[in-house]
Amino acid sequence: MKTVRVGIIGGGLMGKEAASAFGRWFTLNNYPVKVQLTAVCDLNEQALEWYKQIETVSLLTTDYTTLIHSEQVDVVYIAVPHHLHKSMYIEILQAGKDLLGEKPFGIDLKAAEEIINTAKSLGRFARCSSEMPFFPGAQRVVEEVKSGRLGRIIEIKAGFLHASDMNPQKPVNWKRQSAYCGQIGVMGDLGIHVLHIPLRLGWRPEILFAQLQKIITKRPDGKGGMADADTWNNAILTTQVHSDGDEPIPMTLEMKRLAPGETNTWYIEVYGTEGGVKYSTKDTKALWTFNWNQGNEQSWQRTDLGFQVPFPTITGGIFEPGFPEAFMQMLAAFFAEREGKLDGRFGCVTLEEVLASHEIFDAALLSHQDRKSVDIQTVAS
Ligand SMILES: NC(=O)c1ccc[n+]([C@@H]2O[C@H](COP(=O)([O-])OP(=O)(O)OC[C@H]3O[C@@H](n4cnc5c(N)ncnc54)[C@H](O)[C@@H]3O)[C@@H](O)[C@H]2O)c1
Repeated sequence: MKTVRVGIIGGGLMGKEAASAFGRWFTLNNYPVKVQLTAVCDLNEQALEWYKQIETVSLLTTDYTTLIHSEQVDVVYIAVPHHLHKSMYIEILQAGKDLLGEKPFGIDLKAAEEIINTAKSLGRFARCSSEMPFFPGAQRVVEEVKSGRLGRIIEIKAGFLHASDMNPQKPVNWKRQSAYCGQIGVMGDLGIHVLHIPLRLGWRPEILFAQLQKIITKRPDGKGGMADADTWNNAILTTQVHSDGDEPIPMTLEMKRLAPGETNTWYIEVYGTEGGVKYSTKDTKALWTFNWNQGNEQSWQRTDLGFQVPFPTITGGIFEPGFPEAFMQMLAAFFAEREGKLDGRFGCVTLEEVLASHEIFDAALLSHQDRKSVDIQTVAS
């Protein structure tokens, strides 16, 4: 079986998550290629220590140019702060490697455009990370919508909610500072996760009104003082999309770092005239489907889902999946698509979807600044 060799740049939170998934690759059933982690780069020597326990890794380096020019690497997964995305993603592509880049795939619209143009002009396979849609419940939402069973779509709601920033004593880090995270703030952090399924289903906002909030603006700097934490904490985007009908459909998108009590809640809800479907990772197994019952007594039905993932593994069908499995499924989608073996299954965020997401985030900044709704076409390239 063919082996694809992967290098990771950025050995922090997400680099380790990726390494963990590559280490379990043999658990995928009938998967078309073997994927092996061979190289890891992090600026921080200490971050590299953890990777020494992985036997397949033969290159550990603090210099990313060594990794991207290594003969031992075919594909790079990169998870570094957002201000580094543009230059590093472009260099990876120019070095002849394919790319799975972490979101937001460029600190802003212009950076994303430059990365995307480079990938396209060089003909490289490049995708952006977004794992939450790979939960079985999220996949079932996609299936329900595509089946047409919902009738005419009435309304769509999607969101991603975090509460970890509720603690004002949490020290500042790059994710809370615009210079490293981007002017789009929480939208760059959580937005692509929220938009992945809507964009894939063709629900691209045409008009939006944004409410952005900066609530906690100073945090301990870890050295006894306080530092600016100047990113947007929360974003609520009220948008309009079109589906099959002529009438626009309201779609509300929430991205929040200050959502009381929410640990890592990703959800999507779609309401139609003849059916509805809801899924939230807060209740990982539960898929809720609405039965309009031909106008008689209406009901929401809960179905407990098991391990019905797009890329089957050795795990039993009744067992519950979590974040590591969703992340591994996303990686499986990336490498399957790269081999031309996606076979109709759900794929990672495409370059067009990255571009659409950044246009939406830019429109949101404009909307908030001018306190008015914005036609996305005015920011689209
Ligand atoms: N998909 C997800 O669910 C998810 C979750 C969290 C973060 N992310 C994304 O992943 C990326 C990284 O986030 P993280 O949480 O892993 O951050 P992190 O701070 O935990 O890790 C980033 C790592 O990059 C390293 N680094 C910085 N500059 C470098 C350079 N020039 N060369 C090599 N290494 C360098 C740092 O030393 C650090 O170890 C961001 O784009 C973020 O938005 C995605």
